Amino acid sequence: MASNDGIGKTLTVALALCIVCSVVVSTAAVVLKPEQERNKSLDMKRNILSAAGLLDESQGVEEQFARVSTKVVDLRTGEFTDAVDPARYDQRKASKDPAQSVRLAGEDDPAKIIRKEHFSLVYLVNNEQGQLDKIILPIHGYGLWSTLYGFIGLEADANTVTGIGFYEHGETAGLGGEVDNPRWKNIWPGKKVYDDGQVEIEVIKGSVDPAGASAEHQIDGLAGATLTSRGVSNLVRYWLGESGFEPFLNNLKRGEA
Ligand SMILES: Cc1cc2nc3c(=O)[nH]c(=O)nc-3n(C[C@H](O)[C@H](O)[C@H](O)COP(=O)(O)O)c2cc1C
Repeated sequence: MASNDGIGKTLTVALALCIVCSVVVSTAAVVLKPEQERNKSLDMKRNILSAAGLLDESQGVEEQFARVSTKVVDLRTGEFTDAVDPARYDQRKASKDPAQSVRLAGEDDPAKIIRKEHFSLVYLVNNEQGQLDKIILPIHGYGLWSTLYGFIGLEADANTVTGIGFYEHGETAGLGGEVDNPRWKNIWPGKKVYDDGQVEIEVIKGSVDPAGASAEHQIDGLAGATLTSRGVSNLVRYWLGESGFEPFLNNLKRGEA
């Protein structure tokens, strides 16, 4: 009987195994892709509802998201635009494309985003009377190790925070990663962004003095994660400031967006 120990047979078995495994892996990747995309989209919707303070875990996300209308804002004018289709717009890709973004540097880039896209998605929720109820804005910027991507929600006054959340970041679990801690996120709702047209909201080092004059604008810093806290403060202030969504929010309040 022929031996099974020959180099030829070993290589044949190894090659066959490689082919079978690669077919299995690539089939799984192709078959599971639509499901992955669906889960990604659901997760994004869950995060948007959560920032609006509207997420009810006992209800379906799609059902709740039906209240949200997705629009596109031209950040250069603060006005709505139909230059891109919100359902197909890849904002992250646009922010890296020189044709769809502007280069930022130095003082103009406190959130360290390097490029700012011309167009941003925004999410609006109306109440049952059809009036504007919540505004949810995408935000991103650099922490200590990574760019944090998330949403901040505002009441219809475009000043009172309804919630904040980051769906992607690479900060250290237990330190900067505490941006995901529900107790810390719960400090945000009710805080005021602006005073006299100036962005006043900030994450401070340490704990907020509730009796302090600026308490309504201040958020406790994350213990042992001053650099991530500063990053979050910078990116929130940037996106709510005059280079971010402030012109849009002012237009929206005046009914001129
Ligand atoms: C392994 C390691 C991971 C760290 N991760 C973070 C982080 O994710 N965010 C952060 O702000 N600081 C992080 N730090 C701490 C910073 O280096 C820095 O000491 C800290 O931000 C200072 O915050 P504090 O003034 O509140 O102590 C990390 C430190 C080490 C050694």
